[in-house]
Parts: sequence; structure tokens; C-alpha cells
Amino acid sequence: MGLQGFYIPMDVAPERLEEVLRTLPHMGFVGVNITIPHKEKVLQIADLVSDRATLIGAANTLIFRRDGKIHADNTDGYGFIENVKQGAPDWKPSHAHAVVLGAGGASRAVIASLLDVGVPEILLTNRTRPRAEKLKEDFGQRVRVIDWVQAGNVLEGAGIVVNATSLGMVGQPELRVPLDGLRPGTVVTDLVYAPLETRLLAEARQIGCTVVDGLGMLLHQAVPGFERWFGERPVVDDDLRRAVLG
Ligand code: ATR
Repeated sequence: MGLQGFYIPMDVAPERLEEVLRTLPHMGFVGVNITIPHKEKVLQIADLVSDRATLIGAANTLIFRRDGKIHADNTDGYGFIENVKQGAPDWKPSHAHAVVLGAGGASRAVIASLLDVGVPEILLTNRTRPRAEKLKEDFGQRVRVIDWVQAGNVLEGAGIVVNATSLGMVGQPELRVPLDGLRPGTVVTDLVYAPLETRLLAEARQIGCTVVDGLGMLLHQAVPGFERWFGERPVVDDDLRRAVLG
């Protein structure tokens, strides 16, 4: 885009986070993306927190305003939905329930956005069941908690199945949920993008599901922040994907 700007990685110790964030605006920074392990803690530091970030309990995008205030937002859910819409344009959110595997920070963003676009019910399953119960408490009656060992039994009839656990990621164990309940046409998406084609996605593809990989979520979640910081809205397309993969 010919912008005069930089996007640089910074490794910040948790106990230094506030000091660093208060200093960056004085150095000309217009904002930052926030990732593990700072996404929750940053809510206490920000001067303004969006409703979305409050509901999710985490922020991934900070905007440094001209008046010096730090505005925290969460665009993960937006990125998730935009990615699914782009990869599975025929998906009708209101037509069938969703199945979400995992109840961590990423899952909270996914659930908020699925409820937002009108999914009638979310069947949520997590190895540590109390974490899923807590999520139900926060997000309400449209979330139903399923036992982790039952995960394979609720895939049939789902409109969309989401892996929001870290299982299947390079260096992590494989996701072992039995997939024979999956039906052709169901949208299956993985938040894991390394590898790009996880075993979940490969098996789902074989069954005839519409498969959406996790790289697009990473790209789409960056769009709102980029636009706020630089005044231009990037387009997520094949060229951008190729550039990132390259
Ligand atoms: P993130 O912010 O990426 O969601 P997280 O909050 O650490 O990260 O959540 C990781 C998710 O992967 C959780 O749902 C976690 O399940 P637990 O709540 O039981 O820990 C899930 N997960 C990680 N390792 C797992 C494993 N070996 N088996 C099953 N689930 C696993």
C-alpha cells in the first residue's frame, strides 16, 4: 500500500506490559496487536474497552488515540466469521447448530461471534468441563455443554464444526474426536493454522465437508486494526494469502 510504517514483533515481559504500552505512543506507535500471554491482562491497562472485548474477556487490538488514551478491542470473532464467510459462502448460520471444541480464550471469541450471526445453538465441549460451564454462564442459554467424550456424537446435523483447541497444532497431540458423524456439506474449520491442513480438515475434506483453514482468521482479524492505524482497509485475497505463506 506504499505506507510509511512498520509492523514489528516485540517480546514483552508480563510485569513490564503497562510500562511498555504507556511508552509506545510517545515513540510514534499508533497501536499494537496483543497476543499470548497478554490478551486478558491488557483489559485492566486500557483506558477504554469495547463491549466485545469485555464480553470475550480479552483484547487482541489496541488503538492509541490522539488524546493519549488506549482503546482495547477484540477482532478475533470478526476474523473468525469473515474467514468462514469467505471460505464457505453457502453457510447459513441460522439453519443448524454449531459444535465448538475447546473453551479457552479463542473459543470465547468464536462463541460470541457465532451467537452474533444467529446460530440457534452451540454445543460446546472441552476436556476440562468446568471451563465450558463457565462459558455457558457468560454466554447464556444458546450454549449447551457436552461431555468431551461425547464430542463425536454431536457432529451429525451440525452446520459448522470448529476446533478451538490447540490439538493438531505442530508439537501438540492430535485431535482424537471420532469424525464419522460428519456429513458432506457441513462446514469444518480449524483455528490451528500450523499445519495449514490439520488432520481434522483432511478427514473432513474426504467426507465431503466444506473445509476452511485457520490462516484466513489470522488475516481477517488483522483488518480492523490495520484500517484504524493506517487509514486503509486491506483486502484478504489469494494474493495476500500467498504473500503470507511465502
Ligand atoms: P487459546 O487462547 O488459544 O484458546 P487456551 O486458553 O490455553 O488457548 O485454550 C486451549 C484449549 O485447548 C482449551 O480448550 C484446552 O482444553 P482445557 O481447557 O481442558 O485445557 C484445549 N486443549 C489443550 N490441550 C489439550 C489436550 N491435550 N486435550 C484436550 N484439549 C486440550
